[in-house]
Amino acid sequence: MASLATDIQIPKVPLIVDQQRSDRHALLRGIAKESWLARTDIGYSVLTYESVMGILRDKRWHSATGMVAQLQGITDEAFLGRRRVSILNAEGEVHVRLRRLVAPAFSPRSADRLRPFMRETVNSLLDPFAASGKAEVVGDICEPYPIPIICELLGAPKEDWKLFSRLASEILLIFSDNLAQNMPVFLNAQQELEKYTEGLIEKRRSVPADDLITDLIAAEEAGDKLNTEELTMMVDAVIVGGTDTTRNQLGLALALFAEYPEQWALLGKDPSLAQRAVEEVLRFSGAVGGTIRFASEDIEYNGVLFPKGTFMSTSMSTGNYDASVFPTPETFDITREPVGQPHLSLGAGIHYCLGASLARAELQEAFTVLSQRMLNLELDGPVVYKPSGIGIFGPASLPVKFTPSR
Ligand code: HEM
Repeated sequence: MASLATDIQIPKVPLIVDQQRSDRHALLRGIAKESWLARTDIGYSVLTYESVMGILRDKRWHSATGMVAQLQGITDEAFLGRRRVSILNAEGEVHVRLRRLVAPAFSPRSADRLRPFMRETVNSLLDPFAASGKAEVVGDICEPYPIPIICELLGAPKEDWKLFSRLASEILLIFSDNLAQNMPVFLNAQQELEKYTEGLIEKRRSVPADDLITDLIAAEEAGDKLNTEELTMMVDAVIVGGTDTTRNQLGLALALFAEYPEQWALLGKDPSLAQRAVEEVLRFSGAVGGTIRFASEDIEYNGVLFPKGTFMSTSMSTGNYDASVFPTPETFDITREPVGQPHLSLGAGIHYCLGASLARAELQEAFTVLSQRMLNLELDGPVVYKPSGIGIFGPASLPVKFTPSR
């Protein structure tokens, strides 16, 4: 007989804390050794690899990421209704259909065709200051890196990068902790993006090209197609899912490599390690440390009954340090042998990162170019991290010095 979640004795952990992310992780990883489950201010948190996987792979736990706005007191039904049809938040049949239609456009092959452009982009971001041997890599490389790639992916021309960059920053206000105040700017940007995307769709309908919009227009299964509103929501999802994640993940990677110079040197000498290096960085220091779900019905898991409506956060960053899956988890080692079980930093189950192949390609190409051009990377001042909440995490500023390669 399962025990009711409210009745069991388990540790309590803060969901969001005003402390260094590393302190919070140390706390959660310590607790995970004793208990797979902890209580939070708004529900529960699963902490071990197996339990994080267990929740993310169980379709009865629905995504609560779309509820962040509601939790902030946003009640505008037009706004909330539209977010529910986004692939990021949709559930059940709506989600299955969207995912089936768009998945081929996000295949590893689609990501691979952008690799030469990714290398060109990283090289051109580094060029202006490469000779000086100094950079503030967050502002100089990480922040600007994803926008040209997303534009190229969508088929937006170079002259629109600036416009796109502004719209992306305004759309990303959806993650701000004062969304209500930022709502007018957000809604305007969403409208502008919609008009812009409709223009792109029109162009691609008459002249198809080798890009995502063309692939999405062509995506069809058994006579079913994405309509224009769904196409624009996909573009919105690509911006929301693929911009801040990638730039913060690259920032975390460079901060880590500055701390582990021997790993950076290893990568510089052997570019074939880029693939493993990306997986190890994601495991060791993922930009998305956790996500949230709610129980769509009463759910029994591991002998505990979670009533319908229960909030559950899944601590991927704790699961990634589970020694029963990853031996010596505290060691950062880019030559680590794959263990057959994936790290959790790109999620799992039906909401597994749609842009995973693209994200991996972006990071692999950036790692290869930078490790060969920025030798002896080291910190040139303190790393300042963004506030550690439950969302996307990374450095706000990362000054480095390095030896430029000849
Ligand atoms: C290193 C970079 C990235 C990280 C760490 C990351 C992480 C994640 C995680 C953890 C999830 C699952 C969220 C959940 O289950 O609640 C997710 C979903 C998603 N990601 Fe990524 N992501 C990255 C890059 C990208 C890129 C480049 C794109 C798009 C081009 C993208 C698009 C998406 C979308 C659309 C979803 C929702 C999928 C669904 O619900 O079916 N991501 N990502």
